Amino acid sequence: MAKDSDDPQGNPLREGIATRSVPQACTVVIFGATGDLTHRKLIPALYNIAADGELPPQLAVVGFARRAKSDEEFRGELEEAARKHSRQTLRDDLWKGFAGSVFYHQSEFADAEGYTRLAQRLEQIDAERGTGGNRLFYLAAAPDQFEPILQHLAAAGLNKSAQGGWARVIVEKPFGTDLASARKLNSIVGTAFPEHDTYRIDHFLGKETAQNILVLRFANAIFEPLWDNRYVDHVQITAAETLGVEGRAGYYEGAGALRDMVQNHLLQLLCLVGMEAPTDLGADSVRDEKVKVVRSLRRLSAKDVAVNVVRGQYAEGAISGKPAPGYRSEKNVNPSSQTETYVALRLQIDNWRWADVPIYMRVGKRLPKSGTEISVHFKKAPPVLFNKESQGLDQNVLVIRIQPDEGISLRMQAKMPGTSFRIEPVKMDFHYGTSFGKASPEAYERLLLDAMAGDATLFARRDEVEQAWAFIDAIEEAWHVAERAPKLFEYPAGSWGPDEADDLLARDGRTWRRL
Ligand code: BG6
Repeated sequence: MAKDSDDPQGNPLREGIATRSVPQACTVVIFGATGDLTHRKLIPALYNIAADGELPPQLAVVGFARRAKSDEEFRGELEEAARKHSRQTLRDDLWKGFAGSVFYHQSEFADAEGYTRLAQRLEQIDAERGTGGNRLFYLAAAPDQFEPILQHLAAAGLNKSAQGGWARVIVEKPFGTDLASARKLNSIVGTAFPEHDTYRIDHFLGKETAQNILVLRFANAIFEPLWDNRYVDHVQITAAETLGVEGRAGYYEGAGALRDMVQNHLLQLLCLVGMEAPTDLGADSVRDEKVKVVRSLRRLSAKDVAVNVVRGQYAEGAISGKPAPGYRSEKNVNPSSQTETYVALRLQIDNWRWADVPIYMRVGKRLPKSGTEISVHFKKAPPVLFNKESQGLDQNVLVIRIQPDEGISLRMQAKMPGTSFRIEPVKMDFHYGTSFGKASPEAYERLLLDAMAGDATLFARRDEVEQAWAFIDAIEEAWHVAERAPKLFEYPAGSWGPDEADDLLARDGRTWRRL
């Protein structure tokens, strides 16, 4: 029976952390275990959680992939990857302990016999390690393998809990390429796993500062009264990267910046900034409010897209003084590619709180600096007293730095010391690093622990994903299907994107915030 100290699912809460359930011992089965994501993110994340003492000691990891190899070979490859990509330096004793719980399972993704063997192996692991029949299946393979994997898991009965344990699935992005494919994928996942056991990952939600948006808004009393169209002039969301396509052309050519970053990460951040206070912190209460934001986004007609969306592609240029090739000369990119590597948008949320507050978003590769931030620009002070001059004083701006240098700052006006009355903007600044004196965990660490604990708050729900695609599809359609698609503007690598993106704000008498 659930105690007062339990969460709504009856999982015991960890002492002192009121909104966190305890991760339960389980076997994590990774499909696509020899791939990039497993090497760069999943295994380093699991090792770091183990090193921080947060991983249930019985936990086992089974890597499922096509190539033949032994457990030992697999562990050796993972060690090399973890040494390279782990947040914390690898400690030999800790790695040895962790590696002992990692196993390799060779099978084709569409081979029924491979899943029968998997079921036997999982039972054996349950018996040996005490994982209680709990299984967390992680789909990190290529998206075209999701369907056969899910079908075979269901056929082998692995989608059902064994010995009173649970079976959950984590689905990696991209979750579809448009609304129709996302719906199809949702129904395939839905035939194997119920929604409450389905965890659609969006790693931006696992970032420390993204989670802090809710704390900033709903654990403080001073922001929420100002958080609407009476006080907010506009909001900007920027995700800038210096990196280019980095050998991912095979995927990126068919995706582009809008599908790759806006449909998921940026819209998720917008939901956190724009949502109403949930009734409680349960996964569905939070997601009920988030999805309303996407549903309230004004859908763009082809004409609106031409006026409110700017797309760009990087051309040859330089990043930090080093020459950088143009997108079309990158490996495996079509020399006349029309894929956007940059997109800037002007959006409107048509609800009571946000009506008439423009939301500007931009995302791009090969920009001069890497950084993701949300800035809330408040309306100007009334044009009296200190704000009488024609130039006027700067607006107050609250900046939520998602990365790097995670933190929050507030720009305000102050009197400069001296005998004259000179007013200058100053910053009140909070840095995670200095305030808490410890590094933030990687997004995947938090998300893996949450999935083990049965907490889906930071995962996208079916309706969120579909609503986001419905919004994005209208833009893609205007770009690619409608006649006279708007131009794809070039920008030199190392610049802040096409000039037309500046015009988008200049038209409204505004400018992008400098990162
Ligand atoms: C991924 C995108 O989802 O997010 C990449 O596919 C992008 O193109 C990456 O580079 C950015 O994530 P992060 O955590 O490095 O900011």
